[in-house]
Amino acid sequence: MKTSKLILLSLLTLCLCSCSYDSESDLIGASGEPVDPNILITYTDNISQIMQSACIGCHSSPPVNGAPFALVNFSQVDQRAAGILNRMSRQSGAPGAMPPSGRLPQATIDLVERWINDGQLEN
Ligand code: HEC
Repeated sequence: MKTSKLILLSLLTLCLCSCSYDSESDLIGASGEPVDPNILITYTDNISQIMQSACIGCHSSPPVNGAPFALVNFSQVDQRAAGILNRMSRQSGAPGAMPPSGRLPQATIDLVERWINDGQLEN
């Protein structure tokens, strides 16, 4: 009886830990939720997920649907950071707005801006 309670407790702990880990990776993902203002934004932790979920449908390697370049790795995104922020900041439906399907949440756009202000770190 005692052992099974212990096992149950450790399973519960394990579950709780993995749950909180999940929600943390949601926070730093492309979900548009606020990210801890004290952390530095990096390509690997934050920006690549946004590109993956919202951009590489067209900006893949090779690019498709008329997109002019790929945004699948750090150097491609790093080189074009200012243009990326500019296109993402345009209002939905405005000419050249990215992604064309509609503006991403402001918090997601803010993350790209923070990444640029933090020095466009890779890791
Ligand atoms: C449905 C396909 C599609 C998706 C998704 C998409 N793009 Fe584009 N993108 C295009 C096309 C087509 C062009 C070329 C036409 C233009 O410049 O508006 C383009 C152009 C651009 C340009 C300007 C290119 C230049 O010549 O300077 C940038 C920057 C850009 N996209 C960034 C993004 C970012 C960032 C995302 C994700 C947030 C994204 N795009 C998502 C299709 C897409």
